[in-house]
Amino acid sequence: MIGTGYVGLVTGACLAEFGHRVICMDKDSSKIERLRNGEMPIYEPGLDALVAKNVKDGRLSFTSNMEESVSQAKAVFIAVGTPSSRRGDGYADLTYIYAAARDLAPYLDKYTVVVDKSTVPVGTARQVARVIREANPAAQFDVVSNPEFLREGAAINDFMRPDRVVIGIETERASEVMKEIYNPLYLIATPFVITGLETAELIKYAANAFLSMKISFINEMANVCEALGADVIDLAKAVGLDGRIGRKFLHAGPGYGGSCFPKDTLALLRIAQENGVPVRSVEAAVEVNAAQKARMVKKIRDALGGSEAGKTIGVLGLTFKPETDDLRDSPALTILPPLVEKGAKIQAHDPQGMAEAAKMFPEFSYVKNAYEASENADVLVLFTEWNQYRALDLQELKSRMKSPVFIDLRNVYNPKQMKEAGFSYVGVGRG
Ligand code: UDX
Repeated sequence: MIGTGYVGLVTGACLAEFGHRVICMDKDSSKIERLRNGEMPIYEPGLDALVAKNVKDGRLSFTSNMEESVSQAKAVFIAVGTPSSRRGDGYADLTYIYAAARDLAPYLDKYTVVVDKSTVPVGTARQVARVIREANPAAQFDVVSNPEFLREGAAINDFMRPDRVVIGIETERASEVMKEIYNPLYLIATPFVITGLETAELIKYAANAFLSMKISFINEMANVCEALGADVIDLAKAVGLDGRIGRKFLHAGPGYGGSCFPKDTLALLRIAQENGVPVRSVEAAVEVNAAQKARMVKKIRDALGGSEAGKTIGVLGLTFKPETDDLRDSPALTILPPLVEKGAKIQAHDPQGMAEAAKMFPEFSYVKNAYEASENADVLVLFTEWNQYRALDLQELKSRMKSPVFIDLRNVYNPKQMKEAGFSYVGVGRG
């Protein structure tokens, strides 16, 4: 397993749990040292226990030595990062992928399946094969595309009980190896979609783009609900009960964030535009998402009486979703800075994200719990639906706040109950 980031570490630990012998490799030797000491570089529920168990049983180990990881391996997974390129043009940066391919090539000492696990633009698997062939013309290998569909916070379950496994493959020989690797999933009757390389690569982008569209759609419906006095929660429920639509990913909120949707939608748009086949529905979803974040700034400003200057905003949640410490493209981090610029003071709490946030926003103050975040606040804004924010003592909050204004960007609370508790309550789409 090349790369011990989110995907590499979860995949490595889960494959070890399947009974395989997995050697996770990362160039960053201090990270490997920490992993050897049982320290997880990311917060993912259950991951530390799974890693510890498989290390103890001798199936999982860590190294910063490429040869140790690759030589004699039946399969090598490339799970390095594919961030948006620094040029800011939406293209995925494939530097790490090709560097990994080049670096692993010399150690392919018997027939090996090289698996692209990272989310990559269409055509990358073939390019990876070219890079390996150039670096080691004698190598016997096939490249396979096997996109991941792991949700942060639920990644282990998503790996162990996936809706489907997608494998882009071109030879029977590679197929046999992949079947062996995923045998436990065959046994529980997981649907496998076996397809060509390009299709597999595109499936990942299409799935994430579709989910982004669903979110942007419901966010726009929420705005319509606000204008017309309708309720988006009932609307989403009723619409989602249509089996053709489905209830999932119809929660209105402050816009999507995270490591995948923002980056993958942009990458898909670039590939599509480049090939003269623009995907306008996804272009709209991306625009709507940015507009939704801007709309949340206005929502908070309006609740503060039109001006945030000198006001204190209590913040509940900074991560892009609960059960992760990931702040990448988190809505809170787009919505708060314009308010701070105009003189608002931020008093924030997050169960996992504060250490990282403090590096980016040293001007925020960070507090120990939700009640401290409400202390003397002019408004309290719930950004992330962590469980510990779901049943707060409302009277305690109210007694601490300067004015009892609650902005619930995840629609966790019941507007009627909030009103009865004496709050001025603002949700998303709860006209
Ligand atoms: C996503 C995909 O779900 C996963 O399959 C893929 O492999 C990686 O990207 P992840 O980014 O971990 O996973 O989080 P996800 O649960 O999909 O949520 C993404 C964002 O959408 C979050 O900011 C979340 O708050 C938001 N969201 C999700 C909504 O606003 N409304 C919803 O109904 C669902």
